[in-house]
Amino acid sequence: MGIKKETSRRNFLKGSVAIAGASVAGAASANSADPLITDVQDWASITGVGVDETPYGLPISFEKDVVRRNVEWLTASPISSINFTPIHALDGTITPQGCAFERHHSGAIELRKEDYRLMINGLVDKPLIFTYSDLERFPRENHVYFCECAANTGMEWAGAQLNGAQFTHGMIHNMEYTGVPLRTLLNEAGLSAAGDLKDKWVYVEGADASSNGRSIPMEKALDDVLVAFKANGEALRMEHGYPVRLVVPGWEGNMWVKWLRRIEVSDAAVESREETSKYTDVYEDGTARKWTWVMDAKSVITSPSPQMPINHSKGPMVISGLAWSGHGKITRVDVSRDGGITWETARLGKQGDTKALTRFYLDTEWDGNAMLLQSRAMDETGYVQPTKQQLREMRGENSVYHNNCIQTWFVDENGVVENVEVS
Ligand code: MTE
Ligand code: CO
Repeated sequence: MGIKKETSRRNFLKGSVAIAGASVAGAASANSADPLITDVQDWASITGVGVDETPYGLPISFEKDVVRRNVEWLTASPISSINFTPIHALDGTITPQGCAFERHHSGAIELRKEDYRLMINGLVDKPLIFTYSDLERFPRENHVYFCECAANTGMEWAGAQLNGAQFTHGMIHNMEYTGVPLRTLLNEAGLSAAGDLKDKWVYVEGADASSNGRSIPMEKALDDVLVAFKANGEALRMEHGYPVRLVVPGWEGNMWVKWLRRIEVSDAAVESREETSKYTDVYEDGTARKWTWVMDAKSVITSPSPQMPINHSKGPMVISGLAWSGHGKITRVDVSRDGGITWETARLGKQGDTKALTRFYLDTEWDGNAMLLQSRAMDETGYVQPTKQQLREMRGENSVYHNNCIQTWFVDENGVVENVEVS
């Protein structure tokens, strides 16, 4: 095994043995002379901000760095581009809408509820057009799901490139959606005209200039797809498809059509741009993987990570990260400190939800030595997240999409963290 980039593997080997022994509590003794304890502070001497001053709250100014960021050189224009969720700085599993990554092919549009229309046409008994308030009259459900762009981690195929979990893994968000099952609306339009549903499709498109049309097999459309109008309890933000988006649990983000305007039932896939020249993976021999809808199990350590260095000396340390699988629940996550030679099983924040982010923690001790940190997710189908080497062996080096390989962070003796590759 070798490590690419300038760091040598010898550095960390001595520190890779399991760390045991007494732990130093991460707090000072209560009788310290800390002026923050002994003196009356300004915030206790004057009154604070009134309830009339913050009708809709934003994060406190001290957290102003916890924001979406984009990488300028990645795309030609910010209109057809992407920004990244600051996953390194979040905890738990729910992504606040205000910092959830955005991916648009022709910019985010402002579409009023009053102007919203959703058409269902094609092989249906009764083509229908719904207004926003029509949708609100159908029984609705709440579900938490992750949405991951197929391009997440795509820049890392050729080698370790972007220095931060936000940039390597931040094309993902996880929200609680409120919406009407697509099945309910399709049944309202009536599917008997479609005959045998087994080989039927729906083509979904958005109201923006790109339309972002995608074909979805009928089996999935009738399963868990939602026509959603709320996220984390409130209206969708403009950038996430206000007023209505499609939620396609476990499947690549591109299919989660925003500003959803039309659903056509058909007997063949459209083979649109987004499912032919884009969102397919080219093998070494030039042929392409087609219909790669499901996002395979994946995980990443969010802290420590390049934007979250270890800023304490040796002793108690929490290693934390996120795991997810488009096939269902995460059942186990392992963490390695020696680049995948030995593994410890992490604790799941709570039992994995299906097709949703799962938080994991390894409550441990740092001995002050360098580490090659990795996490490896397993899901309920028994699938194990592959190494980068294994993924390249299966898919070659031409791919961009669906990179779900194990990520490596090199942590030096000072706690500084860097994106590296082990081979
Ligand atoms: N829907 C429309 N109408 N237009 C778009 O550009 N982008 C797609 C998808 N749905 C897109 C769209 C892509 S590639 C992704 S990854 C997700 O929306 C991103 O959703 P988000 O912006 O809420 O993160
Ligand atoms: Co995408």
